[in-house]
Amino acid sequence: MRIIHAKDYEDMSRKAAAIIAAQVVTDPTCVLGLATGSTPIGTYQNLIKAYEAGDLDFSQVSTYNLDEYRGLSHDDPQSYHYFMKENLFDHINIDQANTHVPDGSDPDADAACSEYDRIVEEAGYPDLQLLGIGNNGHIGFNEPDTCFSKGTHCVDLTESTIEANSRLFDNIDDVPRQAYTMGIQTIMNAYMVLVIANGEKKAQAVHDMCFGPIQPSCPASILQLHPNCVVIADDAALSLCK
Ligand code: F6R
Repeated sequence: MRIIHAKDYEDMSRKAAAIIAAQVVTDPTCVLGLATGSTPIGTYQNLIKAYEAGDLDFSQVSTYNLDEYRGLSHDDPQSYHYFMKENLFDHINIDQANTHVPDGSDPDADAACSEYDRIVEEAGYPDLQLLGIGNNGHIGFNEPDTCFSKGTHCVDLTESTIEANSRLFDNIDDVPRQAYTMGIQTIMNAYMVLVIANGEKKAQAVHDMCFGPIQPSCPASILQLHPNCVVIADDAALSLCK
């Protein structure tokens, strides 16, 4: 695990975008694993800028997002599919048919999750998987647990995640209680994992991910075993790592 120290959110976002851009330039047909949430927005903005400057071509890139709320259709403004369109896909020349997010509108969780595993496996797993990290150490929506998960599955979101994500909803009661998420094993299958984190609220999770025991109570700690994991975090997120 390599830890790269960023000065602040902007610096973290530029550095992360530079690594993703290098991936796209060196392999224009690459598979990217993508994340939603507040953390990657600046990274996506920098990728859009590089695309607008003529430095990046996404026409042959395919993407697989980590997760989606159960019960939300792709065109629901609160869905992660919608988020990706708003924050990245609608601003670059990616073929929308090559973008993939679990189908939260499918009420059959087993069918939706096994179909997602099938297409991620068929794609050969991401060349680069971008991750944010939850305040409680979750990655994707793999919440603290007693064992590490394998493939895509349906999860009950914890109260702390529901509360953290409620800032994006009018009312905390509107936050879906379940989500479909790629499993830990699927995330570990990516050739490179790039974790980004900023802010004091992430400090404990970042410390436990990098230096804590490898245990499912901090799902991100498994990344210590990944052969090519890069963490880019700002001062505040690294404040407990000194
Ligand atoms: C989102 C995801 C989550 C977030 C995490 C951090 O696709 O997989 O694990 O990365 O909840 O969210 P933010 O960036 O909003 O702090």
